[in-house]
Amino acid sequence: MENILLFCTILTGLLFAPNKQEEPLSGVIERGLNVSRQQTLLLAKEMEAKENRLPKTYENGVLQTANYKSWISGFFPGVLWYLYEDTPTEELKKYAELYTLRVMPAKDMTSTHDLGFMLYCSFGNGYRLTGNKSYMDVMKVGAESLASRYNDKVGAIKSWNSNKKWQFPVIIDNMMNLEFLSFMALNTGNNRFKEIADKHAKTTLSNHFRSDNSCYHVVSYDTITGIPHAKQTHQGYADNSSWARGQAWALYGYTMMYRETNNKVYLEQARKVALFIKNHPNLPEDKVPYWDFDAPDIPKAYRDASAAAIMASAFLELSSLDKSEDRIEWLKLGEQQIRSLSSPLYLAEPNTNGGFILKHSVGNFNKKSEVDVPLTYADYYYVEALLRLKRMQNEK
Ligand code: GLY
Repeated sequence: MENILLFCTILTGLLFAPNKQEEPLSGVIERGLNVSRQQTLLLAKEMEAKENRLPKTYENGVLQTANYKSWISGFFPGVLWYLYEDTPTEELKKYAELYTLRVMPAKDMTSTHDLGFMLYCSFGNGYRLTGNKSYMDVMKVGAESLASRYNDKVGAIKSWNSNKKWQFPVIIDNMMNLEFLSFMALNTGNNRFKEIADKHAKTTLSNHFRSDNSCYHVVSYDTITGIPHAKQTHQGYADNSSWARGQAWALYGYTMMYRETNNKVYLEQARKVALFIKNHPNLPEDKVPYWDFDAPDIPKAYRDASAAAIMASAFLELSSLDKSEDRIEWLKLGEQQIRSLSSPLYLAEPNTNGGFILKHSVGNFNKKSEVDVPLTYADYYYVEALLRLKRMQNEK
């Protein structure tokens, strides 16, 4: 009898206990930034003597690094610049400068489309915050290298060099490099950069999207006709599936292109992608997507924190650009993603996770590469989103 009474008391307590107060958003932001600073400085010190290397991931207790040639090279210096922007200490600046310079040789690469990621996140943020002219000189060379991959017949920048499968592959990720070109057009007066960015966005809009507003990962164009000859995937579950990070790049890319051009067509596209994500039955309650919206083992499939971080940053920007009622939905989604990523499930305990900020991202599931690990680009977009949210809170 006593046991039954005790059971009933506990049950009543559980049912009627007031909900635990939700942490104020300002607290979430500051906590996220504090952890980010501690972790990033730890990693910056750890890597200081590893000449020319940049952090990539931390797998099975081992720090994995890359040199300037990797598409991820610019993210770590970018994180340092964002943190310096938030807390301008000499230590953060010293490391931001050190790691930015490690990316410099990328400016001459004409074999990749990733120069926006590599140079704009590092040198671009550095230039924005310090006005260092030598950073602009590096970016001028880099923008020419990127523009050299543009093909007038196709109306797009080639992502990867041709191979047996693809004549002129363009991946949705490539939308992200257009911010660099837009910035360089503004800063050099070279309108060609702007025209290339605009044409690439239009071509991608015409060919990458399906009728439900999800997108393919890879569209390859016939170089004689300029017409797509293949629509497939590289990192997604299947050609017709919706790879989560691909949808994130699309959301971010068209939101950013609307900001840069004021062209309403781009806003409409961003809204369509946003609605696809928001209404997808496989988007989990905490809004951190599975690595592919169509992964066959949902709900057991891995989550991709990097996709959530990119989406969060994009949703926050979309909420400030979209003047329709939906802006409230975009803000709610962005905030929810930031809250989830800032929970112990995703945010590292200080001094763990190899110095990376977020846990549980997926690089390339198909190649069993970087599955359920920290990734430097997840950290970059998480910190960017925290700063965006902080600015929005301060402007209220
Ligand atoms: N841009 C490569 C990726 O998103 O994995």
